[in-house]
Amino acid sequence: MSVDAVSEKLLAWYDVHRRHLPWRAEPGAPLPDPYRVWLSETMLQQTTVAAVKPYFERFMTRWPTVRDLARADDADVMAAWAGLGYYARARNLLACARAIAADHGGRFPDTEEALRTLPGIGEYSAAAIAAIAFGRSAVVVDANVERVVSRLFAFDQPLPQARPRLRALVARVTPEERAGDFAQAMMDLGSGICAVRSPQCLICPLSDSCEGRRLGTPTAFPVKAAKKPKPQRHGTAFWIERDEKVWLVRRPAKGMLGGMRALPTGDWVDAAPGLASAPIAADWLPCGAVDHVFTHFALRLSVVRATGSPDGEGEWWPVASIGEAGLPTLFARAAERAIAGREGASRAGRES
Ligand code: ADE
Repeated sequence: MSVDAVSEKLLAWYDVHRRHLPWRAEPGAPLPDPYRVWLSETMLQQTTVAAVKPYFERFMTRWPTVRDLARADDADVMAAWAGLGYYARARNLLACARAIAADHGGRFPDTEEALRTLPGIGEYSAAAIAAIAFGRSAVVVDANVERVVSRLFAFDQPLPQARPRLRALVARVTPEERAGDFAQAMMDLGSGICAVRSPQCLICPLSDSCEGRRLGTPTAFPVKAAKKPKPQRHGTAFWIERDEKVWLVRRPAKGMLGGMRALPTGDWVDAAPGLASAPIAADWLPCGAVDHVFTHFALRLSVVRATGSPDGEGEWWPVASIGEAGLPTLFARAAERAIAGREGASRAGRES
């Protein structure tokens, strides 16, 4: 099969088998609203389609246009993002919406080059928005596309080092017309058929031209360089309670989970810090620990609880509505541990 035949086959398959997702235009419809495309692509980086869908719908209902989002309070957007992870994306989302409202008359620029000047829009997002929202023939490479194309060409050079060469192969098969549909077709093929561990080659529209399949070893691609193990860090989360309320702080704007509501913790360090940075002197009760993997390190956060009245900046939040505090997942899980600890203690008290 020729390079053109790859895009023809894939687009014909997409017209029948595409996923119907809230941010996509239906076949034959005009190009989708760039705001929807940008919002969805930002949410979809590092996050699954299933996890993104309800967040996308909530954001669109609450902030239907980029100007609405530009006017939103930082704290509201951070809380609405809570649970999606990679919170720098939410801060950039706001910065980008405000730049578009202030510097671009509320309209997204329509070239990759101009899109890349905006906060949070890197090579991938600029290409995806240019292709999907503006019909440009941009080369879109995400992990699904990488997998499909590396199998198609049996590309055996290790990633991430060989990414520029793989990108050149994606460029070879990207069509002039319908590049946005082509990119999303690659993503759908990668998520449904050309799966990581068990590709369904028998129903794949590209199987006739797939070199990985011809060799009989599609799952050998992409070849990945060995990963360095992530350093382990440790911290302690302090659950401080008074009158059925818990003390929450806001994390510093710069740094991990910046700007998010959280339980107080000291620094995250190489060895378990225990109670070294406890905000108050108290009889701390242990409630277990939660593990969380960040991009560059793994964290074990021990959870302790006590009653008391800390000083400094923070707010008392009703324990009964902790689910509405917009805690990032790490702290939502730490809160669950503390709540389980206090409920266990009150049950034991009643039973004794
Ligand atoms: N992942 C990233 N962008 C996507 C899109 N537009 N459709 C489906 N999955 C995606």
